[in-house]
Amino acid sequence: VSKPRTAYVCNACGARHPKWSGQCSDCGAWNSLAEVAELRKPVVRGGYTGAADAARIETLADVSPEERSRIQSGIGELDRVLGGGLVFGSVVLIGGDPGIGKSTLLLQASAALATALPVLYVSGEESPQQIGLRARRLGLAGDGIRLLAETCVERILEHAAAERPRIMVVDSIQTLFTETLQSAPGSVSQVRDAAAQLVRFAKQQDTVVFLVGHVTKDGSLAGPRVLEHMVDTVLYFEGEHGGPFRIVRSIKNRFGAVNELGVFAMGDHGLREVKNPSAIFLSRHDQPVSGSLVMVTREGTRPLLVEVQALVDESPLANPRRVALGLDQNRLSMLLAVLHRHGGVGLFNQDVYVNVVGGVRIAETAADLPVIMAVLSSYRDRPLPLDLAAFGEVGLSGEIRPVPNGPDRLREAVKHGIRRAIVPKGNAPKEGVEGLEIVAVRTLGEALEAGA
Ligand code: TYD
Ligand code: MG
Repeated sequence: VSKPRTAYVCNACGARHPKWSGQCSDCGAWNSLAEVAELRKPVVRGGYTGAADAARIETLADVSPEERSRIQSGIGELDRVLGGGLVFGSVVLIGGDPGIGKSTLLLQASAALATALPVLYVSGEESPQQIGLRARRLGLAGDGIRLLAETCVERILEHAAAERPRIMVVDSIQTLFTETLQSAPGSVSQVRDAAAQLVRFAKQQDTVVFLVGHVTKDGSLAGPRVLEHMVDTVLYFEGEHGGPFRIVRSIKNRFGAVNELGVFAMGDHGLREVKNPSAIFLSRHDQPVSGSLVMVTREGTRPLLVEVQALVDESPLANPRRVALGLDQNRLSMLLAVLHRHGGVGLFNQDVYVNVVGGVRIAETAADLPVIMAVLSSYRDRPLPLDLAAFGEVGLSGEIRPVPNGPDRLREAVKHGIRRAIVPKGNAPKEGVEGLEIVAVRTLGEALEAGA
């Protein structure tokens, strides 16, 4: 086999260069050239050959809309974030900090799947003995899981072609290298090329391929998110590392909803599903405390009760601090401006801290109203009732806008003992909800009056 040639592509402008240099001669960017393998073009003599055998054209109406076949892993929370199970021929990227539980989750899923299908677990990080120890700790029999400790992607694919697994786990993508490139394993070009070969394998063999990716300190997968667009599904572990809970979020999914959350608890025998996650994100206080309020968020397809906490305190600083954990920082600044302009409360000499309990990240605007209410509660040192919940988007003119799936959220609230909810007018159901007093508000002024 002749070695494919390599070229250098500028990450800034995309220009191709035959040789590496410190500066791109096209756009002038420094240190932007990355090595890539030159794809060999198939040799075509005389242009069009008349043989379009690989792919064919069909009419859209004739395409059978039959769902691609799925298989359940038996781990309900994992199936949920995947959009209802694994899809054959798809590639799933699982990212997260080192030590958060990626290998544990995939070994547990492999064991469950291996009872029905051939599973190949490729590890570039751990020896078979280490994986064996982990399996014993997890109480997994390990029948049917085939192990391979290898880091050369070409050799992995040779083994895989002989073994014909339906499920293949590659732990981790950063340890792999391809013979076609000279750069070090873990570099952008290596990661991208190795992943491309594995994606091709998944499509050709109709195999589910899981790629484990370590996240770097700045929160992105090594290589400027180069893998995300190549794979079908991207899952990230998020949340606080210290506690027992682990949250897996779908960032991208060709076969399901994004922002779907799977919630697990890490214990002595691996990850256990948390089937009722609302229960863990509420820090049940005995007494009402100021600055705390329950909000109803909806991540993916599931409503979730979480507690929002705020602390407002006089600031010694010329530029008081605004700190948002689990929320968007800019959004917090915006909400404080709206509170001043339309609620008449200025917090210019106050530090404002807002935190979402349990390390969950809220990615939707329904948190606006609860955040403002929690901030005000802390500022005035006036606790809100424990059985009160709120949700709603706050507009720049102080209007409270409805958010999607209001009834769903209200039902979840009642289930967890909420008796009163402050919600946007547009989200208040006409028939009401049994056991719940619904306060429908149109403006921030009305909301603050109702919550006072
Ligand atoms: P691991 O799956 O190796 O993380 P990753 O592959 O994402 O790097 O998880 C390792 C951590 O989980 C380690 O700190 C030990 C802990 N752990 C448990 O608490 N219980 C268990 O049963 C196992 C297997 C690991
Ligand atoms: Mg690992």
